[in-house]
Amino acid sequence: MSLQDFCHQLNQLAEEASSAFSNATEIEELEAARIEFLGAKNGRLKSVQKLMGTVPKEEKPKAGQTLNQVKTSIQDGFEEAKTRLVSDGSESGVDPTFDATLPGLGRRLGRLHPISQTINELTDIMGRLGFSLAVGPEIEDEHHNFNSLNIPNDHPARDTLENFYLVPESERTKQLLLRSQTSTVQVRVMDATPPPIRIISLGRVYRPDTADATHYPMFHQMEGLMVDQAVTMADLKSTLRMFATSYLGDEVSIRFRPSFFPFTEPSVEVDFYWNGQWMEFGGAGMVDPNVLRSVGYDPEEVTGFAFGLGVERLCMRRYGILDIRDLFTNDVRFLRQF
Ligand code: DAH
Repeated sequence: MSLQDFCHQLNQLAEEASSAFSNATEIEELEAARIEFLGAKNGRLKSVQKLMGTVPKEEKPKAGQTLNQVKTSIQDGFEEAKTRLVSDGSESGVDPTFDATLPGLGRRLGRLHPISQTINELTDIMGRLGFSLAVGPEIEDEHHNFNSLNIPNDHPARDTLENFYLVPESERTKQLLLRSQTSTVQVRVMDATPPPIRIISLGRVYRPDTADATHYPMFHQMEGLMVDQAVTMADLKSTLRMFATSYLGDEVSIRFRPSFFPFTEPSVEVDFYWNGQWMEFGGAGMVDPNVLRSVGYDPEEVTGFAFGLGVERLCMRRYGILDIRDLFTNDVRFLRQF
C-alpha cells in the first residue's frame, strides 16, 4: 500500500471517529464509539495500523508519524466528547429520568441524645453554682467503689448479685468491677486535690438490675461534692434547692428524709415535689469523717456535703418519659422528639 493510500485511510478514519464522538448523546453511545475506533483488540485504528506493514520501507517513518498524529487526535476527540456529556447531564451523564428542577430531599439535622442533653444542662446549672466537672473511670477497684467510701467488707452493697465484678474473686490480685455509683469520683478527686473542693461528676454506673420501666442495668448519676471549712447541711439543702428550681422550675419543692449511707453522716434521701407529686431523686448527706480521713483530710478542719442524683429520673421527669428503656432502645422516632 502506498503512503498516500495509508494516510488517506487514516484521515478518513479520523473524520468518522470525530463525527461519531461528537454525535454521541449518551455515555453508552460514546463508549461504543470508543471501542469501535480505539478498541485495543479489534478497533478500526488497530486494523489500519496493521496495514502499515505493507507501506514501502522508506516511507514507513512518515507513515508512523501520521499514524501517531491521527491516533492522538482521535483520542482527544473522545476525551472532549466525554467531558461534554459528563458536565451537561446528571452526575454520570447517563440518567435521562433525572430532573434537576424537582425539590431536593432534605437532610434531617441530627441532635444529641436526651441523656446527653440532660448531662449538658446539669453541668451548666452546677457550673453556675461554682461546681466544676470531674471524671473518673467506669471500671473501678474495690478501694474506690467501697473501702474508701466507708463501706464495710460485709456490706450487702458489695454482694456479687449487686455488682458487675470483672474478674472472678479466686483469680484476683485486685478485684475490679463496673462502678456501681459515681461516689467513687469523690475519693479520686480528694485523693488528688487538697480542699476546698466543689465538683460534680456525671457518668454511667452499672448494677445488675432487670430492665423494667424504672430500672436498667446501666444508668447515669450526677455526683456532687463540696468540702471546705464550715460547710453545713444548710449549704447542701440550698444548693440542691437552687439546682432543682433551675432544672425543673420555680414551683419545685425539696424534701430531705432521714436515711443511711456509709459515706455520709447524717444521710438523707432527696425528694422533689413537682406537678403534684413527691419523687425521690437520690441520696445525700454530710461527708463521713471516715471518708475525709481516708483521703488524708482532717475532719476537724474541713467538712463537706455530697449528693448523688439519678440523671435518667431527672430527664424522664422533665420530659414526661414513662419508660427508661425507651432511652436506650435507640428508636429514632422516639429520640427525634427531644
Ligand atoms: N451513691 C449513692 C447511690 O448510688 C447515692 C449517694 C448517696 C451519693 C449519698 C452521695 C451521697 O454522694 O452523699 O445510691
